[in-house]
Amino acid sequence: MSVGVAKSEKSDISPCGEEVAALEEVFGTSFEVWTRTNCDAWALDFSSSNPSLVGEIGALLLGPLLEQSDASREPQTAEVASGRQLLAIPLLGRRNGPSCCLITEIDSSSPDILIQLAITKIRELRHEAELAQLREENKFFLKQVSEDFEELAFLRLMAERLALGDCTNDASELISFMLPVLGGAVSLEELVYLEGDSGPTLRVTQQWLPDSSQTSKWSHSQLEELVERFSDEARRAPVVKNRVHETGLCPELPDVNEFVLVAVSTSMGPIGWLLGVNKLQPDEVEGHEHLWSLSYNEFGTAEASLISTAGAMLASYAHNLAFVEERESLLVSVVRTLVSAIESKDTYTCGHSERVARYGRCLAKEVGYDQEACERLYLTGLLHDVGKIGISDAVLKKAGALTAEEFKEIQRHPDLGWAILRELDQLEYVLPGVLHHHERVDGKGYPDQLEGEEIPRDGLLLAVVDAFDAMTSDRPYRKGMPVEKAVEIFQEGAGIQWDAALVESFLEILPDILVIKDSYRRPPVPTREKGKPSGREVIADSRTANCQPVWQSL
Ligand SMILES: [Fe+2]
Repeated sequence: MSVGVAKSEKSDISPCGEEVAALEEVFGTSFEVWTRTNCDAWALDFSSSNPSLVGEIGALLLGPLLEQSDASREPQTAEVASGRQLLAIPLLGRRNGPSCCLITEIDSSSPDILIQLAITKIRELRHEAELAQLREENKFFLKQVSEDFEELAFLRLMAERLALGDCTNDASELISFMLPVLGGAVSLEELVYLEGDSGPTLRVTQQWLPDSSQTSKWSHSQLEELVERFSDEARRAPVVKNRVHETGLCPELPDVNEFVLVAVSTSMGPIGWLLGVNKLQPDEVEGHEHLWSLSYNEFGTAEASLISTAGAMLASYAHNLAFVEERESLLVSVVRTLVSAIESKDTYTCGHSERVARYGRCLAKEVGYDQEACERLYLTGLLHDVGKIGISDAVLKKAGALTAEEFKEIQRHPDLGWAILRELDQLEYVLPGVLHHHERVDGKGYPDQLEGEEIPRDGLLLAVVDAFDAMTSDRPYRKGMPVEKAVEIFQEGAGIQWDAALVESFLEILPDILVIKDSYRRPPVPTREKGKPSGREVIADSRTANCQPVWQSL
């Protein structure tokens, strides 16, 4: 292939400036710099230190060089006079720039040494260039690692926090933990959580500042207006605004230099917003020299990503919370239904389950149960006789003394209750109390004739309060016995029928038990309008209504 060499009239291109200077120092002379402008022509760079030094003669060397590919070009020499060599050194352009060729006339009788020296220096320059590029890449990766580390550290902290929680607390507790961690990681002047979607429902609920003794520069209404204004944009993606005061974006908030706004969204839309305002400068942040630092001067994708991650985490927590609440609500409905079924079946013992549950919770608290265990015992009390659903009405509602066979039939109700409830994993903890609330410490109870400490504590406890209610409650066919008489029976049966320590504790809290007993009232009766099966309206007319269960708390 024959390639012509054309000389450009003028060019200011000097893409190989650093290499030219280094080679001129090595060879102690100036070079003409020719730049490859396209596949057919070279242009003389008039900005080089000695343009037109060798002029058209030098151009004669460019022809052969052009026959080679950019990467394979090597320095060449041509003798122009005795003891003088024309030296051409091809250079690859940097960063996809055009290639260059340096040409000079030099005193030398050893062209091979000139070529070798040029090759060595070019390699050295290439290595230096590669090193400089690696340093740049290293710097970039270090920044990337720093940002990733920041996000990972934040995620780890939040994950630990979520693992410690039981997902039954209000999200505000998680937010109050999250704001300082996030605000510190992103180096913010202020981080704000706003609850609600938009309009009147939108309100600042939590704020974090690095110095807790300081107060916000902005009022709640100013922050709410800022979020409202950019909420449409933030619904689609995190909003990042820098140099706000320079661009006149928020003239009403002159102290806002930059901000990030992230929506905390569930599938139903935003439930809240995270607003980070003003990036703190390094000298404003204590201990900011370590990797826990993102960009210094303004918000970027790293900050937006981290705050978005926090927003996604909050949204996920809120979703889980709603799920847990829904599940608990379902559980409450199931228990309500079961208790309704018991009491509808045995109207003579109206309110028995509720009273036993309340007495049981009171005694549980007295003997050291924690709050959660007390509430569980309350639930167990409500359900302790659920097995009576499976007992025949003739036996259950019999006013007179039971025959041995009928008594045997009644004794099936703990086992029946266990069978009804055992499929409900969420109510597993009620099973010991339901199954063993008719055991006796002397081993003469039922269904398993357990003795003393073999009996689950919930069963022992319910046995006491169940007996008290059975003895003292009025029935349609008999009056309840006086409390004093019941106390005598308890004292006689302590250590025989009932656990002695529990009887003692029960008698100590008897005044509280009597308050519960006296305050118990038959609840309003739910009814419905004719033709509306789904109605949940409650009409209070307990005088004529059948007995219905009460559900005061869970
Ligand atoms: Fe029972």
